[in-house]
Amino acid sequence: MTNDNLFDPVALANSKFCDAENDPGGYSHSTTELRHYADYKMSTDIEIRQMTPQDVSAGMRLKELAGWNQTERDWMRYLAFEPEGCFVAVRGGIVCGTVIAQRYGTDLGWIGMVLVDPEHRHQGIGTRLLDRGLDFLDRQGIETVKLDATPEARSLYLARGFKDEYEIERWGGIAAPKENPGIRRIEPHDMGRICACDAMVFGADRTRLLTALWQEVPGYTAVAHLSGEVTGYFFGRTGSLAHYLGPWVAWGDAELAEQLLMEFLIRVGGERAFVDICVENANVGTIVEAVGFSRQRKLTRMYRGPNRSPGKPSMICGIAGPELG
Ligand SMILES: CC(C)(COP(=O)(O)OP(=O)(O)OC[C@H]1O[C@@H](n2cnc3c(N)ncnc32)[C@H](O)[C@@H]1OP(=O)(O)O)[C@@H](O)C(=O)NCCC(=O)NCCS
Repeated sequence: MTNDNLFDPVALANSKFCDAENDPGGYSHSTTELRHYADYKMSTDIEIRQMTPQDVSAGMRLKELAGWNQTERDWMRYLAFEPEGCFVAVRGGIVCGTVIAQRYGTDLGWIGMVLVDPEHRHQGIGTRLLDRGLDFLDRQGIETVKLDATPEARSLYLARGFKDEYEIERWGGIAAPKENPGIRRIEPHDMGRICACDAMVFGADRTRLLTALWQEVPGYTAVAHLSGEVTGYFFGRTGSLAHYLGPWVAWGDAELAEQLLMEFLIRVGGERAFVDICVENANVGTIVEAVGFSRQRKLTRMYRGPNRSPGKPSMICGIAGPELG
């Protein structure tokens, strides 16, 4: 049984819920049950099915309606990573919602791209998509699930047992880079050590993701060393609105964090860039403000389950992306 069927609508419809004489207000049922029943009635014509490459243009339409930055290549990467964890909601043959559920190793799952067409919102479709993604991760035996919630979606996640972990802020703008010697592009032989550092900082192994990001745009990556040890790195990618910096990590050193940002700005030729900074890192807000970026929106990192490996958020300058962690 999937979480789509967390309640039994038929039993509910046949129960005292509909017994106006004995229970006129339906008070014998919890608010949650009543809400599920309303959602069920509103969205019975919705089919949730696996996403395919043919749905990418529909996914692009939905993310454009939300003003997000992803490209077709991002969608194709989600599908390549977790083909059975990507879902669409379809009404009357038209895709009106999406969700992706991905795994990092065996312990951590990530929910992203929860999108519903504005014309179909407030009918329980977002919740059904979330439940389908969670159900996929549950069936893989994943204990901890995380996501980065927009303010409008946070209540949806709270209702499914997610808790706040820390704040993330999207910053962006156009900044003039300064000359920045000493930081070089990531080469294949660097990846082992970078991925090991990243697993420590993020709290789960993202080798597959980082390798894909490196393969997609190697020119948007950089690594810094001190005495042969990795002290910082970044990956980046192109977006439909702006170049995206992340993950961006520096070992507790504000100066190095700033140098890495400068290097990314050089790579993108002074064009518009976005980064989602980790507010737990005390230095990074000042750094992005100093280059002339402005704050665009806030997100809340949330988790469900034991959160046994929280990583080291105070070392994270920029996350990999709200849909990636
Ligand atoms: C966030 C988003 C996915 C929610 O989609 P949705 O289909 O409207 O979600 P739901 O209908 O399940 O729930 C939304 C609200 O409608 C309410 N609702 C659900 N069914 C309802 C019904 N039949 N009648 C009235 N209200 C209903 C829910 O209780 C919920 O209320 P809340 O906000 O007070 O918790 C959608 O607003 C969206 O795409 N936003 C832009 C992108 C975004 O921010 N995505 C989240 C990324 S983390």
